[in-house]
Amino acid sequence: MSVQGGAIEDLRKSVGLRIADEPLLRSLADGLADVERLLRETVRSDVKAVHEAAIHLVEAGGKRFRPLFTLLAGQFGKENSRDVVVAAAAVELVHLATLYHDDVMDEATMRRGAQSVNARWDNTVAILTGDFLFAHASRLVADLGTDAARIIAETFGELVTGQMRETVGPVDGEDAVAHYLTVIAQKTGSLIATSGRFGGMLSSAEPEHIEALCRFGEIIGTAFQISDDVIDIASPSAESGKSQGTDLREGVKTLPMLYALADEGTDPRLVELLSGPVTEDALVTEALELLRRSSGLERARATLSDYARRARAELAALPACPARDACESVADYLVERTR
Ligand code: IPE
Ligand code: IPE
Ligand code: MG
Ligand code: MG
Repeated sequence: MSVQGGAIEDLRKSVGLRIADEPLLRSLADGLADVERLLRETVRSDVKAVHEAAIHLVEAGGKRFRPLFTLLAGQFGKENSRDVVVAAAAVELVHLATLYHDDVMDEATMRRGAQSVNARWDNTVAILTGDFLFAHASRLVADLGTDAARIIAETFGELVTGQMRETVGPVDGEDAVAHYLTVIAQKTGSLIATSGRFGGMLSSAEPEHIEALCRFGEIIGTAFQISDDVIDIASPSAESGKSQGTDLREGVKTLPMLYALADEGTDPRLVELLSGPVTEDALVTEALELLRRSSGLERARATLSDYARRARAELAALPACPARDACESVADYLVERTR
């Protein structure tokens, strides 16, 4: 009997997960169902306002990429441990907490195809609920031991540092592209790297395999953010489920914009628009159109392909198995999804 897991089908569409191996499919489908139950249980609160705001984006969905990768990494160990499921739920909650805060900072109105929490309620509710989610993620990780607790604390510190670096912008003399790549490795790569580390570590994988999963996670996470930044320009909001052009409005320069600015042949009108935050809707539309025609978008896609290739190379340190093939399919897909 084949596994008809809705969650797996969703992951095939959203992150390009391709798995033919029935035992792996079954294990992932079961693991993801356990993660969903644990997420809902964890964010429960007797205080209606807290519960409603916390469950809002849990129920809105999202790709569940970090839990998926944690579970995949958990396939490389000797044990099938419940701790991997707990870690998978915890990394999703940390991620979700950062999205609540990110939408406040970015003044975004849409998230996961739903209204963002700051838009539906207000900034205060979004900030407090983000803190609530982070608190409960920490509670889950506490049960995984002091090493895990230290790792998630360090990861969160790195993630926040990335967000701060993005807010402040490049320091004097710092190359803008190098700055961008550091920002995204920290704000996005760090948590995906930790997802891989947790999966490997909590299933008792070999130390060199845990390191490879962590390195793959960091690179694929960075690639994931580049693909997201390309899609933010190339595709309409209806596809991403998020407000489009948010970075333009906030004056944050993503890779396609930085590359466009570095090209002397770029339309001077685009250079002018990118010189600061673009606030009016008509100007955002104009900037998006010019960006789509610029060399920046194609060059960002090339950088993305390079990261995907480097991520795949890290997989060579892992034993050949269906879980490794699954990781490879995700690396391939990140490039495809921007086309
Ligand atoms: C959004 O992450 C923030 C980025 C790192 C681009 P995801 O794209 O994984 O968001 P969800 O979890 O699917 O909503
Ligand atoms: C998301 O960053 C937050 C973190 C990665 C911590 P972005 O602001 O770039 O992502 P979206 O586009 O809102 O999802
Ligand atoms: Mg944002
Ligand atoms: Mg942001």
